Amino acid sequence: MSTIRYGLIGAGYLGKALVRALNRHDDATITAIFDPLTGDAFAAEFGATVYADWKELCAADDVDAVIVASPNWAHHEQVVEAARLGKAVFCEKPVALSYEHTVNMVEAAQASGSLFMVGHVTHFMSGVRRAKELIAEGAIGDIVFCRAVRNTWEGQRDGSSWKKQQALSGGHLYHHIHELDLVLSLLGEASTVTMVGGNVAHRGVGEGSEDDVLAALLEYDGTRFAAIEYGSAFRWTEHYVLIEGTQGAIRLGMQGDGCELRTPDRVERFPLHRTPEEEESRAAFYNRGERDASALFGTPNADVPLWMAGILEEETDYFHALMRGGEVREEFRSLTDGSAALASLATADAMMLSQREGRKAAVTDITAGAPANV
Ligand SMILES: NC(=O)c1ccc[n+]([C@@H]2O[C@H](COP(=O)([O-])OP(=O)(O)OC[C@H]3O[C@@H](n4cnc5c(N)ncnc54)[C@H](O)[C@@H]3O)[C@@H](O)[C@H]2O)c1
Repeated sequence: MSTIRYGLIGAGYLGKALVRALNRHDDATITAIFDPLTGDAFAAEFGATVYADWKELCAADDVDAVIVASPNWAHHEQVVEAARLGKAVFCEKPVALSYEHTVNMVEAAQASGSLFMVGHVTHFMSGVRRAKELIAEGAIGDIVFCRAVRNTWEGQRDGSSWKKQQALSGGHLYHHIHELDLVLSLLGEASTVTMVGGNVAHRGVGEGSEDDVLAALLEYDGTRFAAIEYGSAFRWTEHYVLIEGTQGAIRLGMQGDGCELRTPDRVERFPLHRTPEEEESRAAFYNRGERDASALFGTPNADVPLWMAGILEEETDYFHALMRGGEVREEFRSLTDGSAALASLATADAMMLSQREGRKAAVTDITAGAPANV
């Protein structure tokens, strides 16, 4: 059995965790690393070659798949180049900062027949998978409404971090595209969206430039609706996804508070993560009383918490299985056929269009060619 050779672009908080998870497999090896800051130090862990130019890494003969975990703004060129050269690509979320760039990525992968997987890791959470099973069994009837909330407070924000610069990260909406993607995976693509938002509590020097309050409504031709909130101006931290159906409801607690199905005659509790230890580490992540933005979202030299390592293992195990010729699983099909990436970026761009122009926007405004928003 031949070994799959991985190259990493962006060896920071997430990139390191991804390749450490891949390296658990006997038939995987990390051969190449590019990172302008951490490359030399991290490459030694694997005996990998350090590249000074990511394009050379993409072209290297001993790289079968490129893992792109660079800052959000850098993904576009890197994915397109790797795919153009026929390499398989795994790209962290958000894959891009516009629908237009996402189309370029998907088309580049399709043109060369390369595998292109988007890192929407929530699909691999045990609780999300259980919720989808329950919904498929008809446990809550037809979904009529979803509410996703990811609100917290960030104190003094490290404005020098790319994660706090709207032009580099896309701001909360793009950087935390997980909740939007999850709602779309449950309800399908919305017809119209409305978003309001702004920077209401972080206007000082060195505070970064992203909007710290975002509130959006998604409409499905008047038959179903969703509401999504994001932000870092909230003194009451909330993080959950609520799925309301005609026969019952499911709440996915994202703060280590577990998940629950409620119907008139049934209550079922289930964890978001694989083990009690992972669930506890999720609760600890929220209860540490620390709300510094760069600490909350990880820094290049920090290690990911246990719960995140767990879902990254599940996600990279699947990617590695595909690299080995494994079958695409129906529940994860949207991650490799381009549809999850395209739908989430088209919807995010439509939300930005709505906010910018102060109007309800159709997602087709974006897919028909409206300009990029970030
Ligand atoms: N799936 C998740 O839940 C999750 C969580 C955190 C981060 N992420 C994503 O992972 C990616 C990386 O985030 P992170 O938290 O590791 O950030 P980070 O800042 O910790 O690491 C980014 C690394 O990229 C390097 N870098 C800078 N410019 C680069 C370039 N042009 N090309 C390649 N590398 C470059 C930096 O030196 C740094 O080491 C982002 O897309 C982010 O959204 C996903």
